[in-house]
Amino acid sequence: MATEVLQTADGREKTRVSRQHAARWFSARHGQTNDIPVGTATPPMHPSRPPQPELLSPRDVPRRRPGSPAGRVALLHAVAHIELNAVDLHWDIIARFTDVPMPIGFYDDWVRAADEESKHFNLMCDCLEAFGSHYGALPAHAGMWRAAEDTAEDFMGRLAVVPMVLEARGLDVTPGMIELFRKAGVEQAVAALETIYAEEVAHVAYGSKWFHFLCGRHDVDPREVFHDLVRRYFHSPLKPPFNEEKRAEAGIPPDFYWPLTERQNNAE
Ligand SMILES: [Fe+2]
Ligand SMILES: [Fe+2]
Repeated sequence: MATEVLQTADGREKTRVSRQHAARWFSARHGQTNDIPVGTATPPMHPSRPPQPELLSPRDVPRRRPGSPAGRVALLHAVAHIELNAVDLHWDIIARFTDVPMPIGFYDDWVRAADEESKHFNLMCDCLEAFGSHYGALPAHAGMWRAAEDTAEDFMGRLAVVPMVLEARGLDVTPGMIELFRKAGVEQAVAALETIYAEEVAHVAYGSKWFHFLCGRHDVDPREVFHDLVRRYFHSPLKPPFNEEKRAEAGIPPDFYWPLTERQNNAE
């Protein structure tokens, strides 16, 4: 089921398959059908994606004034791109690390997260279409799958970098985006971003929960291991300001992220 989502190229189609599989998973888990066993799979190294958007290196993606209508469309487009990547990232963590035995709740969490990302992508597409645009109309960042490639063989590295760094960053920046659309009177985008903001806290929390679980299994210090892994796999210092309250709610204390705001030369 996970690899089928990863191998579906079109965004709306990928999210349709994703939501359908999530519904099947949860109805099986709630005993309405036969249980779905956790199997093994060989997920593709690169998930299938639509021919558009064109993927550019971040420095080549044109910047637009956030206060202008074109800037608002560009922002929604960037968020749609992040959400589509997130759909693939969550199905990828489900399929890629099945050699490590995990409690069934691990799969519940990431299936739920993948289902929510699918909804988020569709919400962003709806907003873009209301502006007369669509996902694919603008270029997007090429680098977003890099975290997945870098951590393809490191389960704890994946948890540290994807939910606990990248998705936690979403908690830092989303309130500012909501404000921007509120000031512009774009209620549809405000409502969509508020849904995203509320649901992303849980995705970060799933990351923290399973990261701590694995640290406990291996009897290692979570904070030290987190610092090591982020320095190894994440190629820039973390950027304040942080949403300390939502990060705390998601189980990430300040001593996890503040020390990573400075570049450590010995890790280069
Ligand atoms: Fe999301
Ligand atoms: Fe998320």
